Amino acid sequence: MVSIRWGIIAPGRIAHKFASDFSLIHNHSITSVASTNIERARAFADKYKLSSFYGDYREMLTKEKLDVVYIASPHSFHFEQAKMCLDLGISVLCEKPVTIHSGQLKQLLTLAAENGLFFMEALWTVFLPTYTQIFEKINNGDIGSIIGVKADFGFHMPFDPESRLFNPSLGGGSLLDIGIYPLLLATLCLGYPNEIKALATLTELQVDDEMMAILKYNKRGLAQIQSTIRANTRTEAFIFGDNGSFWVPGRWIDSQIFYVLKSDGQEELVHSPWEGFGYQFQISAVEKCLVQGLSECPLVPHSLSIQLMNQMDEIRKQTGIVYPEDAFNYE
Ligand SMILES: NC(=O)c1ccc[n+]([C@@H]2O[C@H](COP(=O)([O-])OP(=O)(O)OC[C@H]3O[C@@H](n4cnc5c(N)ncnc54)[C@H](OP(=O)(O)O)[C@@H]3O)[C@@H](O)[C@H]2O)c1
Repeated sequence: MVSIRWGIIAPGRIAHKFASDFSLIHNHSITSVASTNIERARAFADKYKLSSFYGDYREMLTKEKLDVVYIASPHSFHFEQAKMCLDLGISVLCEKPVTIHSGQLKQLLTLAAENGLFFMEALWTVFLPTYTQIFEKINNGDIGSIIGVKADFGFHMPFDPESRLFNPSLGGGSLLDIGIYPLLLATLCLGYPNEIKALATLTELQVDDEMMAILKYNKRGLAQIQSTIRANTRTEAFIFGDNGSFWVPGRWIDSQIFYVLKSDGQEELVHSPWEGFGYQFQISAVEKCLVQGLSECPLVPHSLSIQLMNQMDEIRKQTGIVYPEDAFNYE
């Protein structure tokens, strides 16, 4: 297979996991890394045996001949960094949530299309074997027609106005950071809702530390989703069909097991083991798309990111979650 030249922007917590899983599928390294802090870039490059490192993002993008850049910064930087890559003719895999609002996303997608580049939001859980198996079973009709989803994601984080989880100028709040996962599951299972009713508790900084929403779908379905950074919740997911259900126990987003609960009372435990953190499946999917010259990934198409962003915009509107970026509407 052709060797894809990867660059990484912003080598923090998630970038370390990404680079660590990279070694599970490749005997070569990621090409380069760039950080605002050259020592952080150097340490990252040393650890994962990268051939080059930079103390400036643009310098890496202009000096290296990269096929794709993985953007791993806090949410509020995704737009400007993705735009910089696309402007320079480089494809992008961008961490979730891909932008702060849908106006920003639409501008990036237009730019990617104009420049003929690949662009994808890093919705990595879609590629995990657990969900590959679950969606195979759904498509086989194993639990009948899907009529509901119930999923939560919650952990306790002490309030810290500087942390990216709380600071609005870093895209703080539970919805954008972890609420996106239950929303993604609901969207994959049930499509786009025709009604959303959301509630949230806001910190003094006007971002949500807890959010709950109920979504209703044309085809006789309901979803109930919750995200919180105030409490450790079960973080489990249920997908209900009219002939059974799936239960993915906590932490469901990257669980290596799930249960099939049939209407007749039978239960099946399914194992989906893998090594590492699970990012290798997303890395392979992106590389396959690049080799095939695709502009979007069939499993995470642009329309999926637009649907998620539109729903998060609506939940924010209903609950009063605001960000500095809201002042700039790119539509
Ligand atoms: N896919 C997943 O499983 C997963 C898990 C966790 C997070 N994420 C996503 O990944 C992104 C990064 O999360 P993280 O926890 O890895 O972040 P992080 O460790 O706090 O920060 C990552 C990098 O972002 C830059 N950065 C951090 N704070 C900054 C600030 N105040 N101003 C400018 N740059 C700053 C730094 O890059 P430099 O080194 O260049 O300064 C830092 O090394 C988020 O969008 C999050 O939603 C995804």
